[in-house]
Amino acid sequence: MMRRINKEDYILELKEHFGSDERRIHHALKVLAVSEIIMNGEQVDDAICDVVTVAALLHDVGIKVAEEKYNSSAGYYQELEGPPIVREIMFRRGEPQEIIDRVAYIVGGHHTVSKNDGLDFQIIWEADLMVNIEEDGLDRFPEKLPAIISKNFYTPTGRQLAARRYLKI
Ligand SMILES: [Fe+2]
Repeated sequence: MMRRINKEDYILELKEHFGSDERRIHHALKVLAVSEIIMNGEQVDDAICDVVTVAALLHDVGIKVAEEKYNSSAGYYQELEGPPIVREIMFRRGEPQEIIDRVAYIVGGHHTVSKNDGLDFQIIWEADLMVNIEEDGLDRFPEKLPAIISKNFYTPTGRQLAARRYLKI
């Protein structure tokens, strides 16, 4: 049987990385929780589950370096700085190279729609957006939500979840 990743290890890595920045830690845990609901609904295989679990927890790790180096949390810098950190953590934990490569790719593209090339990426996209709609206060503009949701949510579970949560249907 293939070795599976250990979620608890990556929750510790997340906390280690962000230290006292509770807001970022909380964000990643919420993205993981939404990802897990979508993964259950879509009955994804083990490989996708491993990739999505680590990617959900570590997708924003580049933000810390981006803020330190460039004084910016812009998506471009996050996408640049995130993958080397993710690779270091996963390599140190002895994960298989193909899982490392896939998580690094997703972390390196999670703000760029044109890089979305698979179900694992799509689940991160939906889960991050689901959490960001609330955190960024987009839910205060209900007239914008139907377009945002129909444009970004493709998995049946994610679509249903977003509609229930933000369109109240
Ligand atoms: Fe995020």
